Amino acid sequence: MTNQEPSRRPRVIADSEQLAKVTRHRSAGPGAALFALGLIAVGVAVAVFAKLTPVAASNTAAQVDLLFNTMLGIAAAIFLLVESSLIYFAFRYRRKAGEMGDGRPIHGSNRLEIAWTIMPALIVLWLGTYSYQILTNIRQAAPGGGMTVEVTGRQFQWEFFYPAYNVRTVNDLRLPRGEAVSLKIVATDVLHSLWVPALRIKQDAVPGRQNAMNFIAEANGVFPIRCAELCGAGHSRMIGSVTIQEAADFQVWVAEQQAKPAADAPTLITQYGCPACHTLTAVGAAGLVGPNLDGLGARAGEAVEGLSAEDYIRQSITDPNAHVAEGFQPGVMPQDFGTRMTPEELTTLVNFLLEQK
Ligand code: CUA
Repeated sequence: MTNQEPSRRPRVIADSEQLAKVTRHRSAGPGAALFALGLIAVGVAVAVFAKLTPVAASNTAAQVDLLFNTMLGIAAAIFLLVESSLIYFAFRYRRKAGEMGDGRPIHGSNRLEIAWTIMPALIVLWLGTYSYQILTNIRQAAPGGGMTVEVTGRQFQWEFFYPAYNVRTVNDLRLPRGEAVSLKIVATDVLHSLWVPALRIKQDAVPGRQNAMNFIAEANGVFPIRCAELCGAGHSRMIGSVTIQEAADFQVWVAEQQAKPAADAPTLITQYGCPACHTLTAVGAAGLVGPNLDGLGARAGEAVEGLSAEDYIRQSITDPNAHVAEGFQPGVMPQDFGTRMTPEELTTLVNFLLEQK
């Protein structure tokens, strides 16, 4: 312990003249200026040429893409600056063969610290202002007057209701091209987030409040809808699609929906989002959150003593906490199916499930 190698001890520079010699400012020179220009050129090229976003299907998409690419360009330049400096310094000041001592105890450079505090602060302030401007533009992109679609997020489906046409769909949003649309977004249980990458929309669905998104759909096609907020065990199945079509085709679709006869059981099962949680081979459902419904008709009669198979199934839909199947938790299944389904729909579903043997 006492015979420590002297060369391993740090050389503390106490003399101020000597310190000034070690840490004196050296001009960065033309190389650094060229390097900075190169970084800026790369950043600009990334901002101009990068294409990481999907089809732009709404009138607000271009502004969002411009903001995204601007941030990407700035990030690319900063990334290259940091990583290339890291690699340069790692080589330039690496420990050479036979060198056993510690580095010089150099501390602080006011110029450098002021520069790397002020520059990011300015960049972030500017990006914040710019983003806010775009958010304001988007909010005003189709102010009022457009077609309203009421969007409800719940575990685990997106419901779309067109009050003007009295049409309701699940996970299937249809929009006419070229017309102003206002989505009124709510949630009934927990936080969800309506994410439609092609429309550049990602808006939280919050229980107890309504969020609006206004825009004009501009490109025909079918684009994915996702839930972008972890909302429970069926979150990954909370998916759908938006179909944008010509106004005339949209009206044909509306008329079809209005003329549709009472839905059959498989349609109801999809409509009410059962496949997100239950397995039911007859309708191709493979959810694992709730009990498996295959063969339910054969065993429902023995599930609760004194309760008929029919009453057991009916009660399990309208009051899911009454008889929770073994191995499952109460409170997971929505408890409002009794009010959301018509008595006819409920009977159709119960009869269909009774047939699953
Ligand atoms: Cu709803 Cu994730």
